[in-house]
Amino acid sequence: MKQPIRIAVLISGSGSNLQAIIDHQKRHSHEYKIALVISNKANAYGLTRAKNANISTQVIEHSQFKSRETFDKALQKTIDDTQIDLIVLAGFMRILTPAFTQHFLGKMINIHPSLLPKYTGLNTHQRALDAGDTEHGLSIHFVTPELDSGPVILQAKVSITPQDTEETLKEKVHQQEYLAYPLVIEWFAQAKLEFKDHQTWFKQTLLSKPQQLHHLNDLVI
Ligand code: GRF
Repeated sequence: MKQPIRIAVLISGSGSNLQAIIDHQKRHSHEYKIALVISNKANAYGLTRAKNANISTQVIEHSQFKSRETFDKALQKTIDDTQIDLIVLAGFMRILTPAFTQHFLGKMINIHPSLLPKYTGLNTHQRALDAGDTEHGLSIHFVTPELDSGPVILQAKVSITPQDTEETLKEKVHQQEYLAYPLVIEWFAQAKLEFKDHQTWFKQTLLSKPQQLHHLNDLVI
């Protein structure tokens, strides 16, 4: 029987996406196993979530390193030593060096709270509100050296109403993130996803545009 793939989840904070991935793993343990949770901050609440689920954790504090390069080298060694098939960035608030992203090219995904290519970087919810957008959402993409710019795998949209604030919008996006991220990890585990020629392939077909969470007819969470 096929072994579950081994994933590492990298966090910096609350880890509510990590929680969704943990909860999903309980029901889909044949697909993936969270082998390690790494945080660059010792006080990240996500570490408690991992410990509560008996998942190994490691803190690699970026402030203990002289440069971005030396921090990324330590991170890379830990991941390589743990034999990881997929790296899942879940609120990991560090810009990664090109050497690091190159080393794990095609084996690292990120979740970003906007409909990329709109709003790379920070404060995405407030920026969508300020622009008067009527929709917002999230994107899950393969990580490449350019920040938030790797090929997108899946997006989920939410509508913006006149009543929305940064907080309510963030919460709407979060609810979609908890459905979307475990699903994409499963696709990778099932070998449905591939990064080839700098593009995303799904079931051996080039994805000309991202999958849309709400258009999937085989959505079983
Ligand atoms: C999420 O909104 C994700 O899109 C972004 O960082 C946030 C992390 O939240 N990359 P949490 O730590 O998973 O609660």
